[in-house]
Amino acid sequence: KKVLRTSFVGIDTRYYESVGSTNWAAKKLCMETDPALLNGTVVVAEEQTGGFGRLGRAWASPKGGIWASIILTPKMPVDSLFMIMMAASISVARAIRRKYDLGALIKWPNDVYIGDKKVAGLLLELSADGDEIHYCLLGMGIDANVDVGELSPELQKSVTSIKAELGHDIDRASLLAMILREFESRYMIVQSGEYEPIIREWKSLSLTLDNRVSIRTARKSFEGVAIDIDQHGALIIRRDNGRIEKVIAGDCVHL
Ligand code: BTN
Repeated sequence: KKVLRTSFVGIDTRYYESVGSTNWAAKKLCMETDPALLNGTVVVAEEQTGGFGRLGRAWASPKGGIWASIILTPKMPVDSLFMIMMAASISVARAIRRKYDLGALIKWPNDVYIGDKKVAGLLLELSADGDEIHYCLLGMGIDANVDVGELSPELQKSVTSIKAELGHDIDRASLLAMILREFESRYMIVQSGEYEPIIREWKSLSLTLDNRVSIRTARKSFEGVAIDIDQHGALIIRRDNGRIEKVIAGDCVHL
């Protein structure tokens, strides 16, 4: 907290020892108070008992991680909200790289990886009425000091933590402070309507672009090369038969 150098993100921080999900706690705050007054408020917890991720999946949230949700009231078109996710994933990857010199990269849509293992995940929940945004909840889960050996055997294959990479515990408060600072500046760029620099930076940190990938959506599965991303977060794939596909939501496996 002493190192927080932001102007609105994280100035108001609500801390929980244990909570179902920081996104739920943040949602409750938004129902009790005008969300506009909560812009930038951060809810953090030592552990979550009902943490969840993309596509409604359970998200293991033991002690040692950074489980946080940022309340935001952005003024922008709903269909550009992925820009906030990009700003957030860039910020997590950058902070991990700067602080610990680890090669964190972004796997589409918004996972942060070190090597071939996931170290952080992001989630954006939206409350809106048509094109009028009431609030967004940006959830971030970072396996900072998580003991990977204590996760399920299934997760151990695909997950790492910063502690596991470095061999020692890190100062979570100072990592979170750096992430919030990195995020706030990029969020302001997005709010000013400038998407290009953010997309460019996301691409420069992308683990997915130029790779062969296997995609599974609700409707179909296919393989190809990931060639681009657009401002809505759609991944553009060139299939082996030359067809170009746009994927907005789905699972992406690197081949
Ligand atoms: C994903 O990769 O599927 C996204 C994971 C998001 C997890 C974070 S942890 C803080 C916040 N609270 C939750 O229940 N989920 C998000």
